[in-house]
Amino acid sequence: MCSILPALGMSASDAPRRVTAAALRRMKGRGERLTMLTAYDYRSARLFDAAGVDALLVGDSLGMVMLGHESTVTVTLDDIIHHAKPVARGARRALVVADLPFMSYTISREQAMASAARLVQEGGAQAVKLEGGRAVTGTVEALVQSGIPVMGHIGLTPQSILRFGGYRVQGRDKVAAQQLIDDARALEDAGAFGVVLELVASPLSERISRILKIPTIGIGAGVGCDGQIQVMHDILGYDVPGEFVPKHAKAYATLGQTILEAVQRYVQEVRDGQFPTDAQSFSMEESVLKSLGEEARQAGKA
Ligand code: KIV
Repeated sequence: MCSILPALGMSASDAPRRVTAAALRRMKGRGERLTMLTAYDYRSARLFDAAGVDALLVGDSLGMVMLGHESTVTVTLDDIIHHAKPVARGARRALVVADLPFMSYTISREQAMASAARLVQEGGAQAVKLEGGRAVTGTVEALVQSGIPVMGHIGLTPQSILRFGGYRVQGRDKVAAQQLIDDARALEDAGAFGVVLELVASPLSERISRILKIPTIGIGAGVGCDGQIQVMHDILGYDVPGEFVPKHAKAYATLGQTILEAVQRYVQEVRDGQFPTDAQSFSMEESVLKSLGEEARQAGKA
């Protein structure tokens, strides 16, 4: 397997400096927009890292896009760890953040600490993300104090989909908008290094981004956030062509269509005997074949 580094004009000793949680905060201070993308496997992590993404999220969205579940609530801590390991191995520069999945941090403080410790120690994550605002700030504080950087996630929180009853834009009335502002502030005060705003009306996200010193990372929250995150499959068009694409996503490629066409061609060429050709095959000495006797020689020529 060849390295991607020569193609980037780099050698192993040129390994880029790792982005840290603190660095993301400084980037906001300098007015730099942050880029974040989900990743669930080694190859994707290497490519996204090489493309310059600042942080990779091993999101519990993997339940839907990798495992074919209906929602994120069935994702387990073991699922996240399984996918975090290859991402951590593939990311050289990007900060690797792993999601604490549904019910892995809300039963008790001890449970949250133990779950986050597994993501870091077994999964190789450098930070964790959890959903919720004021309700989880005690947990955020405890994790930060024990040395684990924490990212918050408010707005539409998919782990509460059974309560929300659908994927709707959050914080549109005065009370709900104020609650989101209060949640964002509480997360910052608890020590979170950033906060994801999911499906929040753009003017409100902009307001929250101005209030907070820590970066806001938007998904369906407009350009006024300090950074953006997307699910990798959505920006790559990596789906069965014609399937639902969320309004907040933009496909920069059509991988689903490309894969479909490539595999259809492969299937056809195998069926037609056009693949493999000599170019993909291996020869051997005629004399060796001869020594096997006439039967094997004829079979080799056939
Ligand atoms: O799990 C995930 O992919 C996420 C992002 C959508 C923010 O939480």
